[in-house]
Amino acid sequence: MHFPSLFTPAQRQLLDELKTRDLQERQSGSTDPMRLRALRQGVAEFLCMMALQTGARRIAEFGTSAGYSTIHLAAVAQRMGGRVCTVDKVPEKTAWARRNLEAASLAEVVEFFIGDGMEFAQALPPLLDLVLVDHGIPAFLPAFATVKAKLRPGGLIFVDGWGAEEEGRWDTDPDYRAFGENLGADLGLVSWRMELAGKIHLLAVKP
Ligand SMILES: C[S@@+](CC[C@H](N)C(=O)[O-])C[C@H]1O[C@@H](n2cnc3c(N)ncnc32)[C@H](O)[C@@H]1O
Repeated sequence: MHFPSLFTPAQRQLLDELKTRDLQERQSGSTDPMRLRALRQGVAEFLCMMALQTGARRIAEFGTSAGYSTIHLAAVAQRMGGRVCTVDKVPEKTAWARRNLEAASLAEVVEFFIGDGMEFAQALPPLLDLVLVDHGIPAFLPAFATVKAKLRPGGLIFVDGWGAEEEGRWDTDPDYRAFGENLGADLGLVSWRMELAGKIHLLAVKP
């Protein structure tokens, strides 16, 4: 899919360039700390669909990297008159993402934070519509209660299956397994484990 009604040709070209680089890095097994580790295209597009359908205006993202997912979320936010707040602990990645969002003419709807996810969660506005978690479950655990409290009724948390496919984490890593089980038992959320683009993801909605 190419979403011509959502992305301009220039945005599409930038997304394709980032995705090509990401795929090359994956195939070469790159250990470069600046590696993109971008969302799968299908996952990013699914998020766009969810954000559009729910009219998401307050969007938060954990794990900016070079901004591949941020461009997707920001394109929706721009249409909805909303904003994306995004965090990454690596300043060089945030600088790179900022340049990419500027090139995509979307920087004005994005607030970049550099630092740890917990501090970021505390700074987030209330009544969040959509939260993308793409920096790993262990990093998200300390911020989870804060994010949940800031979710609006009907708001969605989407957890990318980061590293799960490659390392079998969903089945073997106690952090991942415990988080999935806790989510399933959480009476304040309705959650679902979903296979998408060959990976397992978690979705949780505040009823
Ligand atoms: C999988 S990548 C994000 C990919 C991005 N969402 C995309 O689709 O292009 C994960 C990112 O999370 C960042 N990160 C890891 N732990 C973090 C933490 N505790 N706080 C903030 N960022 C973190 C890493 O620096 C990395 O850039």
